[in-house]
Amino acid sequence: MKTETLYMENKKDYFVMKVKDIVNENFRTASLFENFGIDYCCNGNQILKEALEKNKISNDRFAVELNKVNQSTETPRYNEWDLIFLTQYIINNHHSYVRTSLPHITKLLQKLQTAHSSKYSYLADVQNIFSQVTDEMTSHMMKEERILFPLIKYLAETQKFNEKPKTGGFGTIKNPILQMEAEHVSAGSAMETIRTLTNNYTLPNDACTTFKITYKELDEFEKDLHKHVHLENNILFPRAIELEELLLKN
Ligand SMILES: [Fe+2]
Repeated sequence: MKTETLYMENKKDYFVMKVKDIVNENFRTASLFENFGIDYCCNGNQILKEALEKNKISNDRFAVELNKVNQSTETPRYNEWDLIFLTQYIINNHHSYVRTSLPHITKLLQKLQTAHSSKYSYLADVQNIFSQVTDEMTSHMMKEERILFPLIKYLAETQKFNEKPKTGGFGTIKNPILQMEAEHVSAGSAMETIRTLTNNYTLPNDACTTFKITYKELDEFEKDLHKHVHLENNILFPRAIELEELLLKN
């Protein structure tokens, strides 16, 4: 029996679903998309069938892997979490990781550049791009933690206490959200450029330990960024917009 048919029997045709909805349903599938090189965060609106076609991945091959992931153990249901808890989780889990990683990777890149940039000229570009990511992410997280997340918390509490929300100076919550989404695209494409410059983190034959650690850390940083952006773009932000609309209607 073809694996594709299995999904039809389950009354769920994953192939016509948006990639982000598959990840929303089971967060463990994020690693699967990562492994197949499919962007599920900033480009989460793409339909699975089309994404597979674009990346030249057979439906059956993907279905087998998806089946394995879906049959594995329990997974956190982020889309059902309380919004305040979700923002705290993002801060504690992702923002704190970014804050620790940025200076750590910066130091590694400096070391690498000093020792090897004469032979591997692309290292200077990698360092420059990562320095931009550092500046952008630092300011981005500050805006989220000081402006957007407190606003989401306010909306959630307003709902809890049955009050009507007062709109802020910037109008609807969609405005700061659009800004944050644009910044996610910028950070995501910067990390993609680094991946391209390093030929998908392929180490040179004479790579020293610093080289190996730096590539591993950069790779991990990008993967964490994808999960982080997915939680915000595809779960937190749409739910906050929906909540604001609901509260303003009442
Ligand atoms: Fe963000």
